[in-house]
Amino acid sequence: MSKISRKGIIIAGGTGTRLHPSTIATSKQLMPIYDKPMIYYPLSVLMEAGIREIMIITTPLEQINFKRLLGDGSKWGVSFTYGIQNAPRGIAEALIIAEDFLNGEHCVLILGDNLFYGDPFSSGLEEVMSTGEGANIFGYRVNDPSRYGVVDFDKSGRVLSIEEKPVAPKSSYAITGLYFYDGNASKYAHTIKPSGRHELEITSLNQIYLSNGLLRVKILRGGVTWLDTGTHKSLFEAAQFVSVLQSRQGIRICCPEVIAYKNNWITKSDVMVLARDLEKSGYGDYLMKVCDS
Ligand code: G1P
Repeated sequence: MSKISRKGIIIAGGTGTRLHPSTIATSKQLMPIYDKPMIYYPLSVLMEAGIREIMIITTPLEQINFKRLLGDGSKWGVSFTYGIQNAPRGIAEALIIAEDFLNGEHCVLILGDNLFYGDPFSSGLEEVMSTGEGANIFGYRVNDPSRYGVVDFDKSGRVLSIEEKPVAPKSSYAITGLYFYDGNASKYAHTIKPSGRHELEITSLNQIYLSNGLLRVKILRGGVTWLDTGTHKSLFEAAQFVSVLQSRQGIRICCPEVIAYKNNWITKSDVMVLARDLEKSGYGDYLMKVCDS
């Protein structure tokens, strides 16, 4: 299977009102999930998928802080372009903001507050990365589907409906914040009308693909963990998840430096230099260990 070249978009705008007062003076996606900033987790998904050209969309005020953290990406062998979302007008607006950046190419959009972890996920990604026309989304069984976009599908996996935060969900499968689109996504996004909460819903974009018969859903099962971090409780649980996993296995997950190194985008000596700046937190020691193994 040959991979289709794709650009990445991370949407890290929003006002994080569900995390107030914690997010009054900072962006939600810069808050830590245990030992690293939240945005490292979705960024790792894109880097694991081999994507090197990435647009990071933030609020106007916070852009400077994202730049301080991430720079132009060259330290990790990737290239970051920055986009601005002036007001919280919805996830689908990302495709409009990124229109010039995408230039009609295929893309992967990921929400800046979503955490994915698990090996089968990487193999599933491989397959989706090779699918050209249309859109691919992922479903994940949750006990509170009403909080999310919900996908309903038949036995053969054909999507029957998708609804944004339904009061009476037709299934227990939430749509995760990871979306693969063909080159038409920006064009379609322009046609979406704002929802009742005055947002361009990503679910509306997916509904366009569904009505064109070009929406596929892949269910993420057992070996995969998907966590969102939109509330204090879910943020705390995500931090606990990372902490338990890392201390049990003696690893650190979702380190961009490690992924860049394993992808041969940066050298061992590049990692050593990055590690030296992170010595005091233990993160640097881990990077040194990875280089020596
Ligand atoms: C958004 C999407 C929703 C999706 C969720 C995943 O919800 O609108 O369809 O299931 O992200 O995290 P929001 O973060 O706006 O509540």
